[in-house]
Amino acid sequence: MIIIKSKHEIEKMRKAGRLAAGLLAYVEPFVKKDTSTLRLNDLCEKFTKEHGAISAPLNYHGFPKSICTSINDVVCHGIPSAKAILKDGDIVNVDVTVILDGFHGDTSKTFLIGDVKSETRKLVSSTEEAMIRGINAVKPGEYLYEVGREIEQFIKKLGYSIVTELGGHGIGRGFHEDPMVLHHYSLQNRIKLKEGMTFTIEPMINMGTSSKVVISPDDGWTVRTKDGSLSAQFEHTILVTSDGAEILTKL
Ligand code: MF3
Ligand code: CO
Ligand code: CO
Repeated sequence: MIIIKSKHEIEKMRKAGRLAAGLLAYVEPFVKKDTSTLRLNDLCEKFTKEHGAISAPLNYHGFPKSICTSINDVVCHGIPSAKAILKDGDIVNVDVTVILDGFHGDTSKTFLIGDVKSETRKLVSSTEEAMIRGINAVKPGEYLYEVGREIEQFIKKLGYSIVTELGGHGIGRGFHEDPMVLHHYSLQNRIKLKEGMTFTIEPMINMGTSSKVVISPDDGWTVRTKDGSLSAQFEHTILVTSDGAEILTKL
């Protein structure tokens, strides 16, 4: 069941979205070489509390930390750790979700650490562009699969692959509401978009031709590319408006 948000709920979603965007902007200067992902986690946790909000990932289905930090071949759900120190040439996705006044805001970016190979930078910038193209495909009256169709036609030409096992999601009072938002074309997303829907668009794009992923048997969370190739991701929470999409996770 897809929940259509009321005016009042949308106002709360805007506030939660703005806080999530503020959190990501706040932590960005700390996303540098020699920093551990645990430090990023702790900074985010503190900022979130100081702003009267809750870190949604913490204890979510048993997730042990307050943000996700996914380095290089980690696709998503990387667990912050004192042992994970960012190094020159890495890429790292920092994914933050806050709950403010009962509503969620979810956003992420992939950051470049120091000197990153040009082919890797291209993967990262293309992934951001894929997300933006997906957002631009949102229109009331159109089908949700237009989002995946746009992303797929852009990404396929570049020779990258789209992770299909994980997707975006409806969001509101719940962290993960219906529908699942696919980043490839699928009739599973033959769902008419309506003004007042809120969901995330968060493509995970792998370098190379394999979209396959594996979950770490050690922690049960960390999702990696099966072939060890790099993976990038960007995420926004959006609202379907009368004529398109409004990005809620913006400053
Ligand atoms: N923020 C992630 C998303 O975009 C979800 C993280 S769930 C967690 O949907 F449990 F890993 F934190
Ligand atoms: Co999300
Ligand atoms: Co997220």
